Amino acid sequence: MIIVIIGAQWGDEGKGKVVDLLADRFDIVSRYQGGHNAGHSVYVGDKAFVLRLLPSGIIHADKTCVLGNGMVIDPKAFFEEVDQIAEKGVEVSPERLKVSSRAHLIMPYHRALDHTSEERLGNEKIGTTLRGIGPAYEDKAGRRGIRVADALSPDVLKLRIERNLEEANRIIVLYGNQPLRADEIYAEISPLVERLRPFVCETSHFLAEARKQSKKILLEGAQATLLDVDHGTYPYVTSSNPTAGGASVGAGIPPHHITGVLGIVRTYATRVGEGPFPTEMLDAEEDIANLIRERGNEYGSVTRRPRRCGWFDAVATRYAAELNGFDSIALTKLDVLDELEEIKVGVGYEVNGKRVDTFPAVSSDLRQIKPVYETLPGWKSDTLGITRFDDLPENAKRYVRFLSEQVGVEIGLISTGPERDQTIILEDSVMEGWFSN
Ligand code: GDP
Ligand code: IMO
Ligand code: MG
Repeated sequence: MIIVIIGAQWGDEGKGKVVDLLADRFDIVSRYQGGHNAGHSVYVGDKAFVLRLLPSGIIHADKTCVLGNGMVIDPKAFFEEVDQIAEKGVEVSPERLKVSSRAHLIMPYHRALDHTSEERLGNEKIGTTLRGIGPAYEDKAGRRGIRVADALSPDVLKLRIERNLEEANRIIVLYGNQPLRADEIYAEISPLVERLRPFVCETSHFLAEARKQSKKILLEGAQATLLDVDHGTYPYVTSSNPTAGGASVGAGIPPHHITGVLGIVRTYATRVGEGPFPTEMLDAEEDIANLIRERGNEYGSVTRRPRRCGWFDAVATRYAAELNGFDSIALTKLDVLDELEEIKVGVGYEVNGKRVDTFPAVSSDLRQIKPVYETLPGWKSDTLGITRFDDLPENAKRYVRFLSEQVGVEIGLISTGPERDQTIILEDSVMEGWFSN
C-alpha cells in the first residue's frame, strides 16, 4: 500500500500531525519534494517537534524514513535537525534514514541568490523562506546542480563549486553583495558530505524492494497544491511539485503503484508570503483574523512569520481535489472556529460581476476576484479533543458536511486539536479502509 498525503491549500494545513498520526500503520515514510522550507509541527505528550527536512515519521523509532530524489537538501540544515531531534531522544541512524543519491544539494550560494532575488524584486517579491530552495531547483533544471552522489567525489564537488560560484558571484556582486569564496564553501560542505555518506541510498530501488515485500509506504508532501510550481498561484509559488504527480517523480515510484491520495484541508485558509489569496480576511475582518491566528497558532513553525488568514475557499479546494484526485480528506483545526458566531465559505468567484467557475491561471486575475460567500452559523461551543463525530455540536457537523459537499470528496478524518488523540476517524470512509488493516 502506498498513500500520498498532500496539502490542499497554501501549506500549514496540519500535514505533520496527520502523518505522525498515521505513521503507525506504515513501515516507511518518505518525503518527495521541497526542502527545509517546510515546517511540520508535531506534538507527542509534552514534547514538541518541528520537522523541516526529515519526514514526520522519524519520531516513530521503528519506522524507516526516506528523503527522496525530488528534494533539495541543505547538508547543514540536515545535520542541525538530526542533532536537534537526537537531543529529544529520537535516534537517527543510517539504518532508519535514507537519503537519495539523486537529491540535489542546497549550497551557501543558493541562499545568497535567494536573498538577492528577493531584494531585486522589491515590491514584487515572492516572500520566500530565503533558504535557497528556488535557486537550487533552478540549478537542477539548468543541469548544473550538485547531486548528493556527485558530492561524494571530493574532486567533483570542488570543481562544481568553483564552476557554479563563478556564475553565482556575478549576480551576487551585481546587486551589491559580497562575493563568496569557493575554498571556504568547500571547507564547510566537504565534512558534512562525509558525514552524510552512510545515509546515502538508491532510494527509488529501496522503495521498490520494500513494496515487493508488501511494506506500507506513506509519501509526505511538503508545501501544498496552490504553491505547486505548475499548478499553484504562479509566480507566488515554491519551485517544486507538491501535487500527486510530483510524488511519483520525486520518490521514483511508478504512478500506478500509488494506492490512494489523501488531501489535508484546514477548516479555513492561511498563506505565508506574498501572492493572491481571494478569501483573505482584510481590514473589516481583522478581529476574526486575529482570533483565528491566536487560537490556531498561525505563525510560521520556524520563522514565526504571522500567517495571513482567510475563509475556506471551496473553489480553490475543488481545484486541488481535481488535480490530485483526492480519495479522501483529512479536515484539520475544527476547534479553532469554536468561538465564531458565523462562518463564511467562499463557494464561487466573480470578476466584474461575472461568475468564474475555474481557478484562474494568472495571479493578477486572481487578485481581482470577488469571492461569493455562503454564511453558516457557528457552534459556539468547545470541540477541542472530541473523538466521535456524533459528539460534535450540530452546527459543526453541518459545517463539515457542507465542506465535503462543496469539494466533492468524502471527509475521512477530522482533527480537533494538535495532539495525536484529538482526532475523529469517520467510520466506513475510504480512509478508514486504508488504515484499518
Ligand atoms: P504542516 O506544515 O501542514 O505540517 O502544518 P504546520 O505544522 O506548519 O501548522 C499546523 C499547526 O496547527 C501546527 O502547530 C499543528 O500542531 C497545529 N494543528 C494541527 N491540527 C490541529 C487541530 O486540529 N487543531 C489545532 N488547534 N491545531 C492543530
Ligand atoms: P509546509 O510544508 C507555507 C511559501 C513561502 C513563499 C513561497 C516560496 O510547512 O506547509 P520558497 O522558500 O519555497 O521558495 O518560498 O512558498 N512556503 C510555504 N508556505 N508552508 C510551507 O511549508 C511553505 N514552504 C514554502 O512562504 O510564499
Ligand atoms: Mg508548516
